[in-house]
Order: sequence, then structure tokens, then C-alpha cells
Amino acid sequence: MQNTDLPNEGNKFQVWKLEITDKSKGFMELLQQLSVCDSVSDKQFEERFQELSAYGDDHIGCVIEDNHSGKIIATGSMFIEKKFLRNCGKVGHIEDVVVDAGSQGMQLGKKTVKFLTNHAHEMECYKVILDCGVGNKAFYEKCGFKEKEIQMARYFV
Ligand SMILES: CC(C)(COP(=O)(O)OP(=O)(O)OC[C@H]1O[C@@H](n2cnc3c(N)ncnc32)[C@H](O)[C@@H]1OP(=O)(O)O)[C@@H](O)C(=O)NCCC(=O)NCCS
Repeated sequence: MQNTDLPNEGNKFQVWKLEITDKSKGFMELLQQLSVCDSVSDKQFEERFQELSAYGDDHIGCVIEDNHSGKIIATGSMFIEKKFLRNCGKVGHIEDVVVDAGSQGMQLGKKTVKFLTNHAHEMECYKVILDCGVGNKAFYEKCGFKEKEIQMARYFV
């Protein structure tokens, strides 16, 4: 496992980059609390993991493990977009932030967002952006984000 620059609290929680073994620690069940992902086989998971790993530091997953249960109880991901704008600048996109329903309210969401935001800063992004529901606006404000523009979406499925 790879340690991070975030302090781990009295050995209660550990904050790591996503690892291939995290599927067996309830990572997919956690993601299911956010949206549909109920039929991903081990093979599919491994293929997608390797695909994402090939992006190196341009794509990272953050996970927080509960040392007591050995379960992944919080996660989020970051994709770094390389642009021509801003003189070949880079933008960090935060996606798929979720804290297990039984572990919310313990600053784990904030830690996850901080881990991902620190990564974007280290990667010299000029900004970090994300989409969220109105109900989560106050949470992201606590994480240092401000409302900007509006989100547009067109779903194919
Ligand atoms: C939104 C979510 C990630 C927050 O995680 P969490 O671990 O419960 O939040 P934290 O404990 O880190 O909260 C940090 C701060 O934000 C506040 N906060 C958290 N959720 C909030 C909400 N919905 N509305 C207002 N404030 C909120 C907390 O009170 C806390 O404030 P404090 O620092 O002054 O004490 C979590 O509730 C969740 O997974 N929800 C379901 C999935 C989801 O909606 N994900 C977001 C997709 S964009």
C-alpha cells in the first residue's frame, strides 16, 4: 500500500490511492451507493483498473479504509485534463465522491476531496471542478469550492 501526505487518525482510518485489491474490500458496494454498478466481474474490474492505471498521475482514485472492519468506506476520483487553453494548462476533475452511509459526518468526505485537490495542485492544475446536486452544495463549500456557471448533461443511456 502507498501512504499519502494526509495524516491518518490514530490508526482508525487510512487514506490511500485505489489499489486493485480494494474490490474485495467493498469498493464496488460503496460505489453502488452513488449509482448503478452491480454487475462488474473481477475481470472487468481488473481491466478497467489497468486501463486507468495507464494514465499514471493523470487519473487517481482515493480510498479511505476503516482499519477496524477492513472495508473501504469513502472514495473519490480525479481526472487531469490537458488543455491548449491557459497556455497548455491543466484542469482537475473530481468525480464519484461517496462516503458509506454508516460513516458519514466524520469528515471523511472532506478528507477525500482534500486528497484529490492536493493531487491536482501538485500536478500544477490551475483549477479543480466538479458537478454536484443542490443538496451537496454546502458540503463542497466547506471543502473550499464556489458555485460557478451551470451544469449541462446529455445522457445516452
Ligand atoms: C456528500 C458526502 C460525500 C459528504 O461526506 P461526509 O463524510 O458525510 O461529509 P464530511 O463529514 O466530510 O463533512 C464536511 C463538512 O460538510 C458538512 N456537510 C456534509 N454534507 C453536507 C450536506 N449535505 N449539507 C450541508 N453540509 C454538509 C458537514 O457538516 C461538515 O461540516 P464541518 O466541517 O463544519 O463539520 C456524503 O454525504 C455522501 O457520500 N453522500 C452520498 C453520495 C453523494 O451525494 N456524493 C456526492 C456526489 S457529487
